Amino acid sequence: MEDVCAVILAAGDGKRMKSSRPKVLCEVLFRPMIGWIKDTLAGCGIKPVCAVIAPGADEVQAALPGFSFAVQHEKKGTGHALMQALPFLEWCGKTDCLVVYGDAPFLDRESIQGAYRLHKQKGTGVTLVSAVLDDPTGYGRIVRGEGGVVTAITEQKDADEDILKIKEINAGAYWFSVGFLLRFLQKISPQNAQNEYYLTDLVAIAVQEGIPVAAYQTDNAMVALGANDRAGLLKLNETARKMVFEKLLDAGVEITATDGVIISAESEIGPDTAILPGTILKGKVKIGTGCVIGPNTKIEESTVGDGCTINASQVEYSTIGAGVRMGPFAHVRPDSVIKDRAKIGNFVEVKNSTIGEKTSVGHMTYVGDSDVGDRVNFGCGTVTVNYDGTNKFRTVIGDDCFIGCNANLVAPVILGENSYIAAGSTITDEVPKGALAIARSRQTVKENWVQKRKEQKDSEEP
Ligand code: UD1
Ligand code: CA
Repeated sequence: MEDVCAVILAAGDGKRMKSSRPKVLCEVLFRPMIGWIKDTLAGCGIKPVCAVIAPGADEVQAALPGFSFAVQHEKKGTGHALMQALPFLEWCGKTDCLVVYGDAPFLDRESIQGAYRLHKQKGTGVTLVSAVLDDPTGYGRIVRGEGGVVTAITEQKDADEDILKIKEINAGAYWFSVGFLLRFLQKISPQNAQNEYYLTDLVAIAVQEGIPVAAYQTDNAMVALGANDRAGLLKLNETARKMVFEKLLDAGVEITATDGVIISAESEIGPDTAILPGTILKGKVKIGTGCVIGPNTKIEESTVGDGCTINASQVEYSTIGAGVRMGPFAHVRPDSVIKDRAKIGNFVEVKNSTIGEKTSVGHMTYVGDSDVGDRVNFGCGTVTVNYDGTNKFRTVIGDDCFIGCNANLVAPVILGENSYIAAGSTITDEVPKGALAIARSRQTVKENWVQKRKEQKDSEEP
């Protein structure tokens, strides 16, 4: 879209959420509500965008990189909020402006684009998005006059009985001609039930001035869904969760029970992958085909290749190759790469490390800050000793090494290819290629020691 800009109104507080954070940062499927809107606008190619925020809303600013900001010092209504963006509208010099609210995450691209087409076709001062709801309670109602032309939006609190019966509601997204806003925005007055400057009054103002108004009626009934309190937020999450399941099932993902399954809208999962109960995918997670994920698995901002099994484990900010078997009870921490067909078994933690192809880390092992080659075998209880209390050091393990049980590898240390570490060793020095390293004291055997001790005790007895 060319010659357009947008304003998001996001100066509301979290009072009804009983949250110390601004309302628009409340999360739906792990993404702040305003993040949904930001991504939808980006998807439409609309920029520049200005967010109207409350004073000191640093967290909102941080969530919107590349945005312009206008501060609304007193919360006097949506019309007043938009007035704060007037300098932005003058500065960016675009012809049309989309105005949306920061608390309605499901506003979709089609509605935005459809309303824009109508706006240009009819040359209106304002084109709003409307929807017909079975239960319109709480929303502004679209009032239509003769021939069905839109004449006003009336808020629930200002509506009489007849208007309350109207089921067509204001979704809270509007295309304005910037020229119209610059001329008439200041005309809004706070004479209404809430003593607020209503943005919605611009419709009646346009009608009075003889400027054409249009409504783009969308059939997306979710377009206006917002959350004002925690119960509303839970409803949004449930709605979004179902939308994601429907999309995944359509794409051939197997979900036999949805109990405890929460999948972010940004996640992508290949066909024939089974998602078992208790699976949580947070942020952008990409999973290949034919995997079995879960039960009770959390994966965040990571990629998983085809044919993997991840059982009762957690993976964060990492890349998992194809055919990897993981868990139960494995933890792959940030910046790890697990290559194809590796195994990360029971009670294994991997951090900031690369694990080579077909390498097996089967049981109760910690691999941190390490570069591990292909086909390495870790015995149970191996520890890379990466931290001296002040600094972290790397462990480098060549291809085809065999590490016996209960070995400590004190970093920085290098194990050459195909080397062999005896069980129970504490390795502090480089092990050359193909060598055996034993670093433990020899066993002493005292023949008949038990019998001798018994005899001594018996002789001492009075
Ligand atoms: C608004 C509309 C209503 C519509 C509904 C759709 C008005 C007057 N009413 O009602 O017609 O059906 O949305 O969801 O516009 N905000 C500010 N500053 C303010 C007040 C609000 O930035 O002073 C922001 C809020 O952060 C919020 C958005 O504007 O993101 C909407 O405000 P809210 O109070 O939730 O309006 P509704 O009562 O839902
Ligand atoms: Ca609202």
